[in-house]
Amino acid sequence: MKKLKGMQDIVDDKYLYFIKIASDIAEKYGFKFIKTPILEETILFKRSAGDSSDIVNKEMYDFIDKSNNAISLRPEGTAGTIRYFLENGFDKLKQKEKLYYYGSMFRFEKPQKGRFREFNQFGCESIGEGSIYEDISIIKMITEIFEELKIKYKLKINYLGCPSCIKEYKPTLVEFLNKQNDLCEDCQNRLIKNPLRVLDCKIDSTKPFFKEIPLLKDNLCKECSNTFEETKRLLELFNIDYEIDNNLVRGLDYYNGLVFEFTSNELGAQDAICGGGRYDYLIESLNGKKTSAIGFGIGIERVMELLTVNNVQEDIYYIGGLNNYCIEEVIKIGFKLRKKYKTIIEYNAKSFSKLINLAEKNKCNKFILIGEEELKNNSIRVKDLNTKEEIIIKKGDL
Ligand code: HAM
Repeated sequence: MKKLKGMQDIVDDKYLYFIKIASDIAEKYGFKFIKTPILEETILFKRSAGDSSDIVNKEMYDFIDKSNNAISLRPEGTAGTIRYFLENGFDKLKQKEKLYYYGSMFRFEKPQKGRFREFNQFGCESIGEGSIYEDISIIKMITEIFEELKIKYKLKINYLGCPSCIKEYKPTLVEFLNKQNDLCEDCQNRLIKNPLRVLDCKIDSTKPFFKEIPLLKDNLCKECSNTFEETKRLLELFNIDYEIDNNLVRGLDYYNGLVFEFTSNELGAQDAICGGGRYDYLIESLNGKKTSAIGFGIGIERVMELLTVNNVQEDIYYIGGLNNYCIEEVIKIGFKLRKKYKTIIEYNAKSFSKLINLAEKNKCNKFILIGEEELKNNSIRVKDLNTKEEIIIKKGDL
């Protein structure tokens, strides 16, 4: 039996290491953990990610269950989190909720390097907070996660404005695009369903007409234009480097205002490691009370690709004995070590060279050998397998 195309088994310490770092930082920023169901009603995704998005249009794992309900595997985490918020009436209570989640998302995409059909996201949603300082705080938090992981990134931002900016801009854009006769097939469809998506088309953006395309930034209302300027000023105030990408529109329909993406230049074509932005109108569009919100999702597999063993290295002990009569002592010390460190205990007596080989094979960096001498002297010899340094300690000092 084989796993399905675009799906994978993750057997890698980097996964939990990432979750730990990201969750710790999210909690310091006041987020609490939520686990939403992996299955939700299809209509939830249609009405949030949007009918015109590729995710809903082409990539949903949707099916009819045995009770005839139209359900889907979640393609992203925002929709379920917002459904939870609404189902509990937090919009009516004007309650602010800061939630983080991680887990599998499903998109029926063409698998390639960095793009899977089942992939994992770590995401945060700050619901009910409209302050511009929250935008900065969210971006600062993401930079802290990547910095803690020692990952190099580039931050790109854009400003989509409010519904009235988009209403003004759309006809200008459509009029311009209608005059072009070499739009790619996808963009011809986008022109009808969601013309803004033409802006981040990888094919059309290389064509000459693209240099003339009307930009959102020139069509923002006074208030949005001021807020964008203020956002940039605050990013600079807090020493957050960014680039403006006038064509960044994001692939989901719910965004407005600030949108952003973090990319890495070490990943090839699928270089986005995080994407997010404001979605102040989504809750209202799902029949809730108007509630501001902002969030992001990090692609865990892509981040894991960037983590080297050195990023993740923690002390791992390997302990073994030279003779059978040493083994119970080995186990005693091993149990003690396990209170604090990951420890692999070898139950069978083996030679020094065999034990060292096993320690290296198991990627351990600390090695303890118990032989006759150690038993006699009540001592423990600890070898650091990276630096080759050795220390001898008294058993009682462990
Ligand atoms: P997204 O940009 O669709 O946004 O996904 C976020 C991240 O998930 C991407 O930057 C990428 O790293 C990763 N990703 C997406 N698709 C795949 C795939 N097929 N294989 C591997 N990794 C992938 C969202 O999903 C929004 N819900 C983010 C958000 C939260 N916006 C506001 N709140």
